[in-house]
Amino acid sequence: MAFSQRVAQLKSSLIRDILAAAQQPDVISFAGGLPDPALLFWHESESPLPKQLAQYGPSEGEPTLREYVANYARQQLGIDCQAQQVLILSGSQQGIDLVSKLFIDPQTPIITESPTYLAALQCFEFFGADITGIPLSPTGIDLPRLQQALQQQPAFTYLIPTFQNPAASCYDAEHRQQVVQALQAARVPLIEDDPYRDLVYDEVERRPLCAQMTADDSWVYLGTFSKTLAPGLRIGFLIASPDLLPHLLRLKQAADLHSSRLGQYLVLQAVSSDSYQSHLQTLQQHYRQKRDVMQRALQAELSDIADWQCPAGGLFFWLTLKERLDTRLLLPDWLKQGLAVMPGEAFYPENQVELGHLRLNFSHASEQAIEIGVARLAAGLRKALDD
Ligand SMILES: Cc1ncc(COP(=O)(O)O)c(C=O)c1O
Repeated sequence: MAFSQRVAQLKSSLIRDILAAAQQPDVISFAGGLPDPALLFWHESESPLPKQLAQYGPSEGEPTLREYVANYARQQLGIDCQAQQVLILSGSQQGIDLVSKLFIDPQTPIITESPTYLAALQCFEFFGADITGIPLSPTGIDLPRLQQALQQQPAFTYLIPTFQNPAASCYDAEHRQQVVQALQAARVPLIEDDPYRDLVYDEVERRPLCAQMTADDSWVYLGTFSKTLAPGLRIGFLIASPDLLPHLLRLKQAADLHSSRLGQYLVLQAVSSDSYQSHLQTLQQHYRQKRDVMQRALQAELSDIADWQCPAGGLFFWLTLKERLDTRLLLPDWLKQGLAVMPGEAFYPENQVELGHLRLNFSHASEQAIEIGVARLAAGLRKALDD
């Protein structure tokens, strides 16, 4: 496994190490730059929030939230891990940034799915990665192409196996196993991004690939509370194999010292509350219904000019136009008609762009707006096909 050159310069922050020691109540600390707790803004206020949240906290994250995540990962995801392997992040997006810093120098080869998550591409390309995109099918990834790309010894493989953004695909059990075996044989680290797993509408295989990893493997699992609680909190997490965690922790220290303690506290309150499970069920029912409304509207309006699979989870439909128009060129007209959609071309690595796809989100608009929006979409497409 090869890290980026910059990692050789990455030291642990001495101050953070001393501050950890200075947590003991009988230590007189002249070490850090911690404000006097009695003068922190909340101290005198009536706020019900615990006052210690106003002080700097540990870079790893709040111990109770790390424990919660490790328990959840062991019990619900089948990932064999300890709380020490958990790093709380400022959104799982931060994990993508930290992984990029850890592995990518200009021209470092990496593998992603193609298409893949836009902001991951943005990050990987910013650090200068040489990206090989592997095509997806609704139930997996092109295995021969993956195996071929693994022969170039990429620094890592970034995958979204469950309810992929943007393509809505979900690997079946066989693909999950074969991909893990291929990565293990090539000894290439896996970065598994799994933000949508709880937004599930039909029964499908969702067991993370990281659950099949062994003690010899290098892996990072990225999770988030954005899709189930509130994206504005900016709280996500990573769980990493023990060889990677110390490097990621230092990069986290260098990036932002730690994630918002208030955000972490609110997440912990929410996930420990009695109503959390019923909240998840409500989300699932509500989004399933919207998905079905969009599915019916698409069938009524677009079945002769586009193909798609009804997504089993997540937040998106991925349309493939029978005539492969460049959907970026259609966007200005749709915007004039009061409709915003994502042209599919944006989700491909540079030089591997495929024309003729659209990503449609179904969670945000009302049911009525979904029907009106799909009608506008169809009218715009038919006009473009006639021109
Ligand atoms: C695949 C994927 N990864 C990561 C993220 C980032 O999520 P967060 O809000 O946790 O940073 C998103 C958000 O849309 C996403 O779709």
